Amino acid sequence: MALPTVVCGRNGRMANLLAGAVRDTTDLALAGRLCLRDPAAPPADGVFTSLAALPAAPAVVVDFTHRAGTVRLLRAAEDTPCALVVGTSGLTGTDQALLRRVARRRPVLQAANFSAVMALLRRFVGELAQTLDDRWDAAVVDVHHARKVDAPSATASALARAWGATRAAPPISSLRFGDAVSEHRLLAGGAGEQIELAHRVNERSAFVPGVLAAVRFAGRAAPGLYSLEDALCG
Ligand SMILES: NC(=O)c1ccc[n+]([C@@H]2O[C@H](COP(=O)([O-])OP(=O)(O)OC[C@H]3O[C@@H](n4cnc5c(N)ncnc54)[C@H](OP(=O)(O)O)[C@@H]3O)[C@@H](O)[C@H]2O)c1
Repeated sequence: MALPTVVCGRNGRMANLLAGAVRDTTDLALAGRLCLRDPAAPPADGVFTSLAALPAAPAVVVDFTHRAGTVRLLRAAEDTPCALVVGTSGLTGTDQALLRRVARRRPVLQAANFSAVMALLRRFVGELAQTLDDRWDAAVVDVHHARKVDAPSATASALARAWGATRAAPPISSLRFGDAVSEHRLLAGGAGEQIELAHRVNERSAFVPGVLAAVRFAGRAAPGLYSLEDALCG
């Protein structure tokens, strides 16, 4: 049976893309859209304003919205059994504590970047940092569209952590302009040579395969907090 999947957001770019991808995927079924922006909005066909309003508890809820919506979803998930796949950025420390609390009772997969290639890049950066000699240091550059609310991006912080796991954490420079989806660079310099690793997302569709893998994984996982790597390797 196809896995009943709910996508948060009614008009968002990721929300629309993911709802379409779920609808087009035979082992997943779009059980509705969850509009958490305005809980008082009149419900429309296939659109619900709360988890409790859904005719049946969904297996998985996918959330790429805004921290206000994510917090509302996390609170609702304390009472309604479902797995969560969370990609929303800009969560505060308090929000993350709530997410960890929910993950004690529900499967929750959270990733700063659902590109499978970025997951590979992070692993490679960790191996580089472990292998290069002490003369090498690094910096991370984080480029996003002007509307992005948080800086540095969680992806930039994750790249910096991958390098910094075995040596000094690199500084991060964030640039916000134009409408580019995202670009992350790790620049590293040693004695007379440099490395530059760049990952650029031109279209949000780059995140879709990772999100669908996360939905399938979360739908069968035990309660706990998971990363994209768990879904890609599990
Ligand atoms: N982790 C990743 O790999 C990844 C990749 C891409 C994007 N993201 C993140 O995903 C999020 C959405 O990105 P996007 O490009 O789709 O943005 P977007 O097109 O601006 O859409 C924003 C979404 O947030 C919802 N929203 C806005 N304010 C809200 C509120 N106060 N309460 C509840 N919901 C609210 C909107 O709901 P309505 O549709 O109902 O208006 C809409 O669905 C951002 O946080 C972005 O950084 C993460």
